[in-house]
Amino acid sequence: MRSSVSLSRFRSLSLVLVVGVLNLQINTADAKVYQSLEEFSSDSSKGAKVYDFVLVGGGVGGSVLANRLSEDARKRVLLVEAGPDNEGVLNLTAPGLFTQIDPSTFNWNYQTIPQAGLGNRTIVYSRGKVLGGSSSVNAMIYTRGSKDDYDSWGAALVSSGEETKERNKRVWSWDVLWPWMKKHERWRPPVGNRSISGQFDPRFHGYEGNVGVSLSWGGPSAFDLRALRAIEEDGLELVTGGVFGRGFNLELNDGNALGLCQPNSSSVLITATKELILTAGTIGTPHILLNSGVGHKPDLENIGVKPIVDLPEVGKSMSEHISVLLTWTRNDTAIPVDPAAALAQWQLDRTGPLAESVSAHHLIFGRFRDDWSGFKLYGDPSAGKNSAHFEVVLLPADIAAWLESTLTGGSVTLRSSNLLDPPLVDLGFLTHPFDILALTEAIRITKRFLNSSAWTQDGYITGFLGPDPDVLSKSEFEERLRAISNPYWHVVGTAALGRVVDGELKLRRVKGLRVVDASVIPHVPGAHTQAAVYALAERAADLIENS
Ligand SMILES: Cc1cc2nc3c(=O)[nH]c(=O)nc-3n(C[C@H](O)[C@H](O)[C@H](O)COP(=O)(O)OP(=O)(O)OC[C@H]3O[C@@H](n4cnc5c(N)ncnc54)[C@H](O)[C@@H]3O)c2cc1C
Ligand SMILES: *[C@@H]1O[C@H](CO)[C@@H](O)[C@H](O)[C@H]1NC(C)=O
Ligand SMILES: *[C@@H]1O[C@H](CO)[C@@H](O)[C@H](O)[C@H]1NC(C)=O
Ligand SMILES: *[C@@H]1O[C@H](CO)[C@@H](O)[C@H](O)[C@H]1NC(C)=O
Ligand SMILES: *[C@@H]1O[C@H](CO)[C@@H](O)[C@H](O)[C@H]1NC(C)=O
Ligand SMILES: *[C@@H]1O[C@H](CO)[C@@H](O)[C@H](O)[C@H]1NC(C)=O
Ligand SMILES: *[C@@H]1O[C@H](CO)[C@@H](O)[C@H](O)[C@H]1NC(C)=O
Repeated sequence: MRSSVSLSRFRSLSLVLVVGVLNLQINTADAKVYQSLEEFSSDSSKGAKVYDFVLVGGGVGGSVLANRLSEDARKRVLLVEAGPDNEGVLNLTAPGLFTQIDPSTFNWNYQTIPQAGLGNRTIVYSRGKVLGGSSSVNAMIYTRGSKDDYDSWGAALVSSGEETKERNKRVWSWDVLWPWMKKHERWRPPVGNRSISGQFDPRFHGYEGNVGVSLSWGGPSAFDLRALRAIEEDGLELVTGGVFGRGFNLELNDGNALGLCQPNSSSVLITATKELILTAGTIGTPHILLNSGVGHKPDLENIGVKPIVDLPEVGKSMSEHISVLLTWTRNDTAIPVDPAAALAQWQLDRTGPLAESVSAHHLIFGRFRDDWSGFKLYGDPSAGKNSAHFEVVLLPADIAAWLESTLTGGSVTLRSSNLLDPPLVDLGFLTHPFDILALTEAIRITKRFLNSSAWTQDGYITGFLGPDPDVLSKSEFEERLRAISNPYWHVVGTAALGRVVDGELKLRRVKGLRVVDASVIPHVPGAHTQAAVYALAERAADLIENS
């Protein structure tokens, strides 16, 4: 039997309710959306604000979980979201408009502290603040990562000494998650119904779920066909153990819905009789926990927050991908897009340039060779032989190299004891020598790839402008790297399995509180992260229903 949890115990919930807004009660029989706290608190039909489950954060984890829990009409479920409604907002809806989403309305705009490894630059760290969370503002790229990435979740529990008695119930692995991965997916042919023969393997997809997944509207373009020839010719060590067989298909998710909300006023006491579930994301969740006195006791005392539960790992060990935009010259004339015509086409039948968030149709997930010298010095941080060390994003205009496997650790900590202050976000980028070596190797591999004859033979690619580790001096190159390395919005790990939550996603040493979002993923996978969070939340719904 679970004890009843009153939100008033958690100071951060007052944060939510003071600043916040967002109250969405979802129930299949009777879903009700409150657009403001006033509307919510004055709904007399609710009387005392008592629910079975209260979820804080309406992003990927929270939306999926609220939807599943409320399938049982007897359950009273409240989903609280700090941002506004996503319903009917064009820039959030048309994939190609995502770069124009107004950050002052729909984004938390977190700021990192000056990054010592990046020449003291501060970086605005994007997180969606709107129903749908970061999935409402993201690029909709859908990649899963390898089996090894998921098996590492269960391994993190084992290495933390998590009791194995109930292992079968708790274990997290690819085999356990795969059915949930399929359950959330609603695969459909691309808009416009182009031929996709040979581009998709029906065995590896789900068709009945809530999250639309598809291939790109356009393509294969001449650029795509060159890229495929170059991959074949170059013999890159691609990650092929994953679900797509070829390991570099990009798929685009065509949107996920759920209704939504907005702004502030006085606070309301809400009671969760069964569970309070944090779904506020990798930055929001540890921020709420720390504000509530759950974290490293001495750190909390230093900042003036009364410690309630000493859980030193809250907010620590955050990991993220590091991206570097490379420049090269090519003999190509981009065909200009007429924005008005593109919008009209998209509104007519959902096709055209705005049907794609990014013009990349291929992502390469690759591994360094086993004998690469960096491993001798620092070991191999990837989750296993099927997991990517680097990613190359094949945008026709720019090619970006990403480091997927890093040894850097970041953190989320409190700036002050004021609930309303944003947290301090430290990515810790390029503070570990492995990450510099590995990024250098990823750039060398990308450079070699761009020099294969599929690109160069007929004069398509005419030069590599770098940054080039073989042209610049070591110190010049490093300085350049520090100047242009950026995050890619894939943070995980601040409330990780084993370190902060147990195998059932319950916060250690606290009753009636779970975490269901990207913060529980122990280390950033060799993939963009949303697919993993969808599957995680589907699995969590099952754990909760059966507990
Ligand atoms: C710009 C951008 C581009 C991205 N591109 C891709 C991509 O193309 N492909 C991909 O796979 N992944 C991408 N990602 C990452 C992906 O979106 C995230 O991994 C995923 O959304 C994480 O899900 P989550 O549930 O953990 O958190 P989120 O989806 O971020 O949801 C957290 C929710 O909690 C709310 N919240 C936070 N604090 C509070 C509070 N105190 N009170 C109430 N509510 C609160 C937030 O407003 C938000 O709605 C991108 C992310 C960003 C920001
Ligand atoms: C959507 O983007 C356009 C720019 O294309 C901008 O002018 C407009 O203000 C945006 N709309 C909203 C609601 O943010
Ligand atoms: C970054 O800041 C630190 C601390 O203020 C300082 O010691 C260091 O020299 C700075 N580095 C650069 C590159 O400016
Ligand atoms: C898509 O194309 C296939 C074959 O080209 C055809 O059988 C199918 O009916 C088309 N579907 C739609 C929705 O147009
Ligand atoms: C919301 O709260 C802020 C800070 O407390 C206040 O400045 C603002 O006026 C409030 N807005 C509304 C609409 O009440
Ligand atoms: C590109 O490849 C050719 C051989 O195919 C080689 O001669 C040349 O040095 C390479 N250029 C770079 C910049 O690596
Ligand atoms: C550029 O491409 C055109 C057409 O593909 C080709 O005719 C021309 O020779 C190329 N130019 C260079 C400098 O390679």
